[in-house]
Amino acid sequence: MNLPLNISALSLQLPPASPQFIALYRPDSDGQAVHATTQELTHGLLAAAAHVSPKFFYNELGSRLFEAITGLDEYYPTRTEAGIFEAAHGPIAATLADAGIKRPCLIDLGAGNCAKAVTLIPHLQPRQYVPVDISVDFLRDAAEQVQNSFPALDIVGLGMDFSAGLALPEEVQSHERVFFYPGSSLGNFHPAQALQFLQHIADPAQGKARGLLLGIDLVKDTARLEAAYDDALGVTGAFNKNLLLNINGLLGANFDVRQWRHVALFNAAESRIEMHLEAACDLAVRWPGHERRFKAGERIHTECSYKYTVDGMTALLRQAGFKHVEYWTDPNNWFAVFWAAV
Ligand code: AVI
Repeated sequence: MNLPLNISALSLQLPPASPQFIALYRPDSDGQAVHATTQELTHGLLAAAAHVSPKFFYNELGSRLFEAITGLDEYYPTRTEAGIFEAAHGPIAATLADAGIKRPCLIDLGAGNCAKAVTLIPHLQPRQYVPVDISVDFLRDAAEQVQNSFPALDIVGLGMDFSAGLALPEEVQSHERVFFYPGSSLGNFHPAQALQFLQHIADPAQGKARGLLLGIDLVKDTARLEAAYDDALGVTGAFNKNLLLNINGLLGANFDVRQWRHVALFNAAESRIEMHLEAACDLAVRWPGHERRFKAGERIHTECSYKYTVDGMTALLRQAGFKHVEYWTDPNNWFAVFWAAV
C-alpha cells in the first residue's frame, strides 16, 4: 500500500541533532592519566602542609553540589553576574560587533551546566559553541540540553582539564574565537598562574582568540565573602568534603568524611577566600603504598578563590597582552564582567 509521504510531519519527528563530544580527560580509565592523577594527589597529601587542587571537586556529584551552591542566598556571584549579563548583553554584543567580530566561535571554559552561555547565545549568535569542562559526563548531558534548545547550533563539547593547557582539537573553529570564562573561575588560579593562562589566550599564535569575556568576583566586606563560602545549609561544606570521596575513588584511599570539618576564611593579605578541610580528631588515611597521619586541627588546603579590584584585574589583563579592556559591574560593585580584546 502506498502511503502519501508527509515530509513536514516526518521532519517534526526527527530527533534533534546531537552535539559532537570529545573526551580528552579520563583520570580513571586512561593509564597515563591515572598515573599522573595518583602522583599529583599523593604529592599534595604527603606535603607538610597538605593540599589538593580544587579541580578534584568536580566529579559528577561535585558538579551537582556546585550547581546547588549557585542557587544559595549566600552565594551572590552567580546571580550577580547573571544580572550584569542581563543588563549589559546589548552593549556587550555591540562591543564585539564594533570590534568586527561576527558569528564567533564561543569557547566556554568551565562550562558546567552551560547556563551562563545559554543566556548569551541568542545575543552573540555564535557560529560554533564549544563548552569545555573537566566534569566529562556532566558536561555531555549539559551539551545535549543546549543542543535541544538550539538545534541548528554547531556544538563541540570538550571534556578536558584546561588548567593543564589549552591545546584545542581541530574540530574547534580556529577563526573568530571568543573565549568565555564566567563565574570568577579565574579566581581559583594563583595570580601568577592566572597571568600565564591569560597570556596564553592573549597570544594570537596560541589561543587564536579575538578576545575574552571574563567574569570576576570583586573584593568586598569579609562577612559577605565568608558567608558565601560557608552557607547555613552546609552545601558548600558538602561540596568541600565530597573532594575526599572523589579522592577515595581515584586513589583507593579511605577518607571518612565524618572525621573532617569544612573551614572557609578570607585571607585579606592575599585577597582570597581559602577553603580547608580540618581533621576533627587524630586520624590516619591510607591508600596503596602510602599513609598520612593528621593531628586534630590539621588541615588540607582545598581551594583559593582570589578576589580582585577592577583596577587590579584591568592591570593583569593588560600585562597579559590584551590591547583593550572594558568592564561592566552591578549596582553594588560586587562583581564585574570584562571584555578584553586581543
Ligand atoms: C568555581 N569557582 C569560581 C567557585 C568559587 O567561588 O571560587 C567554586 C566554589 N567554591 C566554593 N563555592 C564555590
